[in-house]
Amino acid sequence: MDNPADKIIKGYELRALIGKGGFGAVYRAWQPTLGREVAIKIILPQYADHPDFIRRFEAEAQLVARLEHPYIVPLYDYWREPGGAYLVMRYLRGGSARAALARGPWSPDAAARLLDQVAAALSAAHRAGVIHRDIKPDNLLLDEDDNAYLADFGIAKTLSADVTRTEGVVGSPAYLSPEQLKGEAVTPQTDLYSLGIVLYELLTGQHPFPDVTPTTLIVKHLNEPLPSLAMVRPDLPVALDRVLQKATAKAPADRYPDAPALAAAFHATLAGQPAAPVFGDAATTPDLAPIVVMAAPPEPANPYKGLRAFTEADADDFFGREALVRQLIARLGEEGDVTRFLAVVGPSGSGKSSAVRGRADSGAAARGAAGVRTVVCRGDAAGRASARGTGGGAPACRG
Ligand SMILES: Nc1ncnc2c1ncn2[C@@H]1O[C@H](COP(=O)(O)OP(=O)(O)OP(=O)(O)O)[C@@H](O)[C@H]1O
Ligand SMILES: [Mg+2]
Repeated sequence: MDNPADKIIKGYELRALIGKGGFGAVYRAWQPTLGREVAIKIILPQYADHPDFIRRFEAEAQLVARLEHPYIVPLYDYWREPGGAYLVMRYLRGGSARAALARGPWSPDAAARLLDQVAAALSAAHRAGVIHRDIKPDNLLLDEDDNAYLADFGIAKTLSADVTRTEGVVGSPAYLSPEQLKGEAVTPQTDLYSLGIVLYELLTGQHPFPDVTPTTLIVKHLNEPLPSLAMVRPDLPVALDRVLQKATAKAPADRYPDAPALAAAFHATLAGQPAAPVFGDAATTPDLAPIVVMAAPPEPANPYKGLRAFTEADADDFFGREALVRQLIARLGEEGDVTRFLAVVGPSGSGKSSAVRGRADSGAAARGAAGVRTVVCRGDAAGRASARGTGGGAPACRG
């Protein structure tokens, strides 16, 4: 794209390039309708036009858009068109943790604060079944008060695993876990490994495996424990080493059970308590009593979907419209060809899609109304269903 910084895309005025990553570029932009600055990531055509990306983009973007958490950068909008895919996010003015690192190592307290916020965000994502897969300082963004936010869930990375297998590792493997490098399944512990590497870097100001070729880096991630923190920061509590070693254990099962447990261990160590044994083997550390790490109580899941309609997967969260749903299911269960067509009409925003997709679809299927196919149609007037073609123009339907 020629000088995109002057362009208006879908009403967003691109203002300046913030930075470029392996999959595209991020711009600061202005959204005049709401009078706010946003960040827009434009994904390069070679990724955006890849069939695998096209297949997965919409579903992944919807999943990420639903991750509502105070420390997850909200995704405001997204769309794809031939030649590009677009992600509109909250603009974070404080830059990335990478930029902050350029000013020097962080104090343990500052690192602990970032860890608290990022661990809470990760925990929410993991509970929603989403693994970030790309935790690194560039994806931890800061606001004006140095609060940390998790950015860039794996939407743009849906291809990287495949490409990695066929063309070698894409981009820098600096924060990739052993299981990612081996092409094995990722789990929440995958994010903990990368977060452990980030913590080492924040505290020391340097990557644990600095100045090596990508191949050597991979070998070290696979085989070598992190070098001792004390070699670079002898002023830090020795027990912090244990915490980082456990977070970055080569086997996922040897890492912390979840992100809050890592944060709790980090805090306990800063407060002067000894860290738990790295691999749970108390015999190798007889002088240290293992500490009890209390995981933070799980936050209750918030069923609110914003402006997005409920889907079949949300059926358990959908309640309050039982009478309507009963009516719809009963109607779908009737015999005869014509009765298999059911139009749900109502004003814009009244919850037609949610009622059908969030409950009636699955309810009807459970009651044996096989072959239910939902088609949502929009006419040109609010509140007028155009599925019957009465909307004054050709209805736009998607099934
Ligand atoms: N919402 C945002 N607000 C402010 N800056 C952002 C935002 N999103 C990304 N950035 C910044 O834009 C730059 C480019 O980000 P991008 O995600 O494209 O690349 P990356 O994270 O460096 O690498 P990768 O391609 O592996 O994701 C980074 O410096 C990042 O910190
Ligand atoms: Mg990024």
